[in-house]
Amino acid sequence: MDKLQVVGGKRLQGEIVISGAKNAALPILCAGLLTSGDLELSNVPRLHDVKTILKLLAQTGLKVTQDDERVTLNGSAITTLEAPYELVKTMRASILVLGPLLARFGEAKVSLPGGCAIGSRPVDQHIKGLQALGAEITIEGGYIYAKCKKLKGARIRTDMITVTGTENLLMAATLADGETILENAAREPEVTDLANLLVAMGAKIEGIGTDRLVIQGVAELHGAKHAVISDRIEAATFLCAVAATGGDILLKNTRTDYFDVALDKLREIGLVMTMGSDSIRAQMGGRPKPVSFRTTEYPGFPTDMQAQFMAVNTIASGSSRITETIFENRFMHVQEMNRLGASIQTEGNTAHVKGVDKLVGAPVMATDLRASASLVIAAMAAQGTTIIDRIYHLDRGYDRMEVKLSAVGADIVRIK
Ligand code: EPU
Repeated sequence: MDKLQVVGGKRLQGEIVISGAKNAALPILCAGLLTSGDLELSNVPRLHDVKTILKLLAQTGLKVTQDDERVTLNGSAITTLEAPYELVKTMRASILVLGPLLARFGEAKVSLPGGCAIGSRPVDQHIKGLQALGAEITIEGGYIYAKCKKLKGARIRTDMITVTGTENLLMAATLADGETILENAAREPEVTDLANLLVAMGAKIEGIGTDRLVIQGVAELHGAKHAVISDRIEAATFLCAVAATGGDILLKNTRTDYFDVALDKLREIGLVMTMGSDSIRAQMGGRPKPVSFRTTEYPGFPTDMQAQFMAVNTIASGSSRITETIFENRFMHVQEMNRLGASIQTEGNTAHVKGVDKLVGAPVMATDLRASASLVIAAMAAQGTTIIDRIYHLDRGYDRMEVKLSAVGADIVRIK
C-alpha cells in the first residue's frame, strides 16, 4: 500500500493547474447511458474514482474511448443493466447508474452501497423518488431491482437535500413522460454542470441552479460535447495548504464564481487573494487566524472542505469551533491531527480546536478522501517528517496531489 512522506515547514511558491471536478465528472459520465449518441467530454480528472465508474460503465456495454483528460462514450450497444456489488462497494457514486438505466431501458439492478467511513449514507431518497416516477422497486439480496414500462413525470420533494439523489432523479426525469418537478433539489455547482450537459443533450430543464428543477421529459437524448467544470474542492484544498504553510501560489483553470463561503473564510484566516477570470493568486504571510463554521448544503460551507480547514485551524492564533451537519461521522481526522500535536476535542458533531504554536511530524493514517487531504496539509505545516498511510483514499479524488504540491516547493514523496 502506498504511503506519503512529508517533510514540513516548506513555503509554497508557483503555479498549480486545477483538474476537472470529481463530483461533476462522475454523474456526467453516467449520463452517457442516457443516449445512443456520442458524448465527448473534456477536463475529465485522472482519478481512481473516474477509473472505477468507467469500469462499471464499460461492463454495461457502454463504449469508452479515453485519451488523457478526454473521454468519449457511446451507449448504442448497452447489454447489461447491472451494477455489481464488487464495484459499488468501492464507490458509492455507482448508484448514479440507477436513474439513467431505468429511464432508458426500463430496468436496472444495482447493488446497495452500504455504509462508509463518513456515515451510514442511505439511498432511500433515490428509491422513493424513482418510485414516485412510477418505478417498481424491490430490494433483495443486497440489490435494488428497479422496473418500469415508462417513467411518468411527478412532483418529488426529497426529505433532505441530496446531491447524488438530485442527480439520479434529474437524469431519470429527462426521459420520463410529461413534467417532473424536483423540489428541495441540491444546488451544488456539480448538479448545475450535469444539468447543463443534459440540456446540451436535448433535455428540457428549467430552474437550473435553484432548488426547484422543472423537467419536461423528451423521447430521447442525443450526443453532445461538454467540458467538466473545474474542481472547487481541489482548488480550495490548495488554498488551505498555502494558508497553513505560507507562500504565494497561482491556481489556474479554476473559477471564482461558485466558491461558496470557503473563500470568505480563507480571507478571515488571512489569505490574500487576487481573482483572475480563471485563476486565483493566493498569498499568505504570518500565522493563520482561527475561523469557526458549520457545514451546510451549497451555497453554505461545504462538508468536503471541513477537514482541510480544521488542519489550518490547528496552528491558528486562537480557538475555533467547527460543526459538521451533513455526515454523522466525519471527524475521523481529529485523532490523527492530535497525533501531530494538535489540540482538538469533539463534542457530538462539534469540534473545538485550540490553535497550537507548532505541529510535529508523526506516522498517521488516512481514513477517507478529504481526511487524507487534511493530513497532507497538517503534515506540510508540521516540523519534521510525517508518514501518511492508506493514501489510496487520496488517489480516489485528487489528481496526483503530491506531484502538484512538490512542483510548488512542498517536500512530499510517495513511498511504494
Ligand atoms: N441522505 C439520506 N438518504 C438519501 C440520500 C442522502 O439520508 O437517499 C443523507 C446522507 O446520509 C447525508 C445527507 O443526506 O447525511 C447528504 O448526502 P448527499 O446525498 O447529498 O451526499 P452524496 O450525494 O452521497 C455527494 C458528494 C460527496 C459530498 C456530499 C455532500 C458525490 C459523488 N459525492 O455525496 O462528496 O460530501 O454530496 O456535499 O457527488 C467527497 O467528494 O469527498 C464526497 C464525499
